[in-house]
Amino acid sequence: MMIILSVFIGMSSSLQAENGKKVFETYCWGCHHQTAVAFGPSFTEIASKRSAEEIQGMITDPAAVSSVFGYRRNAMPAFKLTKEELEAITQYILSYKPKVFSEEKQ
Ligand code: HEC
Repeated sequence: MMIILSVFIGMSSSLQAENGKKVFETYCWGCHHQTAVAFGPSFTEIASKRSAEEIQGMITDPAAVSSVFGYRRNAMPAFKLTKEELEAITQYILSYKPKVFSEEKQ
């Protein structure tokens, strides 16, 4: 039973990583790159300073959240993603959290 369970968990988390990458390539890639600054900030930078809630807020309502984040303009369009896509892209972004930053916070 334990073996079946852990295989299942392993599969679902790699499936989520796969989905996160797909969402990224479909909607975000034109303006964000994983580790390099593009039109918008890199996922490394975002992951180092934002929580999952903040990231999801920005994706669903950038007009409101970008001003909370201190941006003087809002250049990012709002996205209507499914709950699964939103969760997957959030985990995908957070997977780029740099190690030194996460250690500093603890
Ligand atoms: C048309 C270009 C564009 C697209 C497409 C885009 N973004 Fe952005 N994004 C930006 C810009 C530019 C900013 C910086 C804030 C601003 O100027 O609005 C930003 C900011 C953000 C932030 C907040 C950055 C911070 O300070 O923490 C997050 C999170 C984010 N984007 C995630 C995403 C995700 C996820 C997608 C795909 C679903 C996406 N963006 C698609 C342009 C874009």
